[in-house]
Amino acid sequence: MRISVFGIGYVGVVSSGCLVELGHEVIGVDVSAEKIAMLAAGRSPIVEEAIDTLIADAVNQGKLTATDNVEDAVNRTDVSFISVGTPSAADGSVALGAVDSVVAAIGRAIRGKSGSHAVVMRSTVPPGTAEDRVIPILERESGRVLGEQLRYYSNPEFLREGSSVRDFRSPPFTLIGAAAGDDAEVLRAIYAPIAAPVHVAPYRVAESVKHISNVYHAVKLAFANEAGAILASHGVDAREAFRLLCEDKVLNVSAAYLRPGFAFGGSCLPKDVRSFLSLADAHNLSTPFLKQLLPGNQAIIDRAFEAITRHGRLPIALFGLAFKQGTDDLRESPFVLLAERLLGRGYELRIYDRFVQVARLMGANRSYIDKEIPHLERLLVDGPQAALSASRIAVIGHVAPEDQPALLAGLTDHVVIDLAGMDTLRTVPGIVYEGLCW
Ligand SMILES: NC(=O)c1ccc[n+]([C@@H]2O[C@H](COP(=O)([O-])OP(=O)(O)OC[C@H]3O[C@@H](n4cnc5c(N)ncnc54)[C@H](O)[C@@H]3O)[C@@H](O)[C@H]2O)c1
Repeated sequence: MRISVFGIGYVGVVSSGCLVELGHEVIGVDVSAEKIAMLAAGRSPIVEEAIDTLIADAVNQGKLTATDNVEDAVNRTDVSFISVGTPSAADGSVALGAVDSVVAAIGRAIRGKSGSHAVVMRSTVPPGTAEDRVIPILERESGRVLGEQLRYYSNPEFLREGSSVRDFRSPPFTLIGAAAGDDAEVLRAIYAPIAAPVHVAPYRVAESVKHISNVYHAVKLAFANEAGAILASHGVDAREAFRLLCEDKVLNVSAAYLRPGFAFGGSCLPKDVRSFLSLADAHNLSTPFLKQLLPGNQAIIDRAFEAITRHGRLPIALFGLAFKQGTDDLRESPFVLLAERLLGRGYELRIYDRFVQVARLMGANRSYIDKEIPHLERLLVDGPQAALSASRIAVIGHVAPEDQPALLAGLTDHVVIDLAGMDTLRTVPGIVYEGLCW
């Protein structure tokens, strides 16, 4: 395939060399005359492992050239990759000036070209950039409509400087944001020699994955550094502790706990976070990141309260009271905190939780219920229907699988605030559905 790469910085140079290695012909385009001259002479404008030979070979084979002529580059290629810089603006938002100007220039060049052209965004851009910004500019400047001789893909780049050539050759996956119904055949063909799964997603999702990946890396580092400092201050070999932490691929280094949902609670997480933080306090260690865990968790409960009360003073059915589904453990349950807050503000509330119900009837957790939440006990009902028939808002904390059919059948014109991420709720006719963190 013939590909023009706009922006020959770290990402663009590596992409150019590696795309030639995959068998394609590449034209590098930049606004810097110096970079164009270097690339055209077979010299890499960036320092990076393995890049010098890759660029020299590509240029010697006649498969890689460089220019500042946008029209010529678009005319002579089928696809344009964009890898211009997206630095921080003064207010912390991302500056998309270079993206805007390169997209407009490519769009104008497409207007004068016969045949179809695909544009691929490799730069890191915030969610919404494709639909709210780039596609309107492309359609306006090219005079074409997306899908009619004009295609646009978001294809975020996950390479790391220092090992970027290796990362390009063996990525964890290829992620493509595409318009509905577009299977991204062009990009699949370009990356065909790379043995990695290809995921096609809506534009906004693909754009977001790059963002949350980098934020997640930052979260991991902040956690490891602060927790390591706390351990070290108590004479622990923190590196060894972290090495062993990472040995657990079931709960620690895995998808476990890694999805938007509701606040954490129960008898372990809040207690152990407090206990660990007290180790930092004992040695006057500053751990601002970890100190935000409990207030951050409380903010999720506040968000749920606001999402519910925004609908006015309507009667509420709360599904789930124990801290998670499948247990009757009510200690530090965020649902208990939410229920108490609603009750304190005078909301009419009915609560259904199969396991708390059983514990209450069998006397299993009876003493806790009697001692700690006697005011909530009188609100417990014995089934989904009893909760739903007297309410207008259904708050879904968690629902046992055996109760889900009755829940779905009992919903009529309820406002449903989903704290559980229960996909089947979205298809219930007549309801108003709201997710909390999604
Ligand atoms: N550096 C990385 O490791 C890395 C990894 C993944 C993603 N990214 C993302 O990729 C994008 C590029 O990053 P980078 O580090 O390669 O940037 P960079 O600053 O090294 O290169 C950007 C290039 O774009 C050129 N440019 C600016 N405006 C142009 C225009 N109108 N036409 C043509 N060229 C133009 C600049 O002259 C420069 O050569 C950013 O969005 C970045 O966040 C970077």
